[in-house]
Amino acid sequence: MKELLHKVRIGNVETEGSIFLAPMAGYTDRIFRSICLEEGADMSVTEMVSCEGVARGSIKTIDLMTRGTNEKILNVQLFAPDAETARRSAEGVMKASPQILDFNCGCPVPKVVKTGAGSALLKNPQEIGKIVKALKEETGLPVTVKIRTGWDKESINYLETAAMAFSNGADALTMHARTKSQLYSPYANWETLTNLKENFPDRVIIGSGDLFSAEDGVRMLKETGIDAIMYARGAIGNPFVFKQTKALLKGEALPEISTEEKIEKIMVHLDGLTQMLGENTACREMRKHVCAYLKGIKNSAKVRHMVSTALTIDEYKEALKQLT
Ligand SMILES: Cc1cc2nc3c(=O)[nH]c(=O)nc-3n(C[C@H](O)[C@H](O)[C@H](O)COP(=O)(O)O)c2cc1C
Repeated sequence: MKELLHKVRIGNVETEGSIFLAPMAGYTDRIFRSICLEEGADMSVTEMVSCEGVARGSIKTIDLMTRGTNEKILNVQLFAPDAETARRSAEGVMKASPQILDFNCGCPVPKVVKTGAGSALLKNPQEIGKIVKALKEETGLPVTVKIRTGWDKESINYLETAAMAFSNGADALTMHARTKSQLYSPYANWETLTNLKENFPDRVIIGSGDLFSAEDGVRMLKETGIDAIMYARGAIGNPFVFKQTKALLKGEALPEISTEEKIEKIMVHLDGLTQMLGENTACREMRKHVCAYLKGIKNSAKVRHMVSTALTIDEYKEALKQLT
């Protein structure tokens, strides 16, 4: 059987292994990306970055492309409705010195879709091809594309989209194995990943969808034959899933994560966000992460309650003391 944990070549970039962190708007800022990399992720991707915003010089948009401290491979995910907008963003994007560009063709959020970007592009694979070509021409960087299986179950077209992306130079393709209409549930259809890989055996295929534990990650790699996986919701509050997956792939026991280790990671995460955002905003931003970190920890209801109004690091420390 093919080795499941291996280096992955994407254009001129090589990752150490095949277990990645997926892009998630509102979550995968540079602090969380750094934490996941430290815990064994082999590559991360930024939150989705608007090409229009970059072209206009929006500081907030440009800031999304800042490299994490330990992020050797900066993979910036872009979104745009067309090749022309993507082309106009290239100069601004290059100022962030990324190693890889990923292009979003899966976002189902109405605000994005109504502009013709994100999953709206699944209805127009030719434009996806033009975007890949434009980004490659303008930046010379490896370009990957992240798609869904189609717009809805009547218009599953991932093979056509993949063909268009690859024939225009895409260096890898990530597929979230759901249609746009499915949003994030019910279950992802992993068979579409198997089929995609069978149709493009020589191309790098990365899988996404319903990876909530290390066991899920191993199973996706085994069942589908794809080259790499990306954890999304499964990494929120559980950045340990990367090292856990690697342990399983090496035939080792699943590393247990103690409550102390989780508390330590929460504080590292909060410190990082504080440096990036200032204490008050960081404490608000951290609330959604803490609830995820505490999942499965007994007697954590009181901590959740305390954290829901915490505005200082000291208040967080006080709340977390309840667990020790
Ligand atoms: C909160 C959230 C934000 C997301 N933001 C992005 C994004 O910016 N770009 C993107 O390509 N996918 C985005 N996704 C999709 C994920 O990368 C992933 O493909 C999807 O969640 C399926 O994986 P999962 O079922 O294991 O969570 C997002 C998902 C979530 C839950």
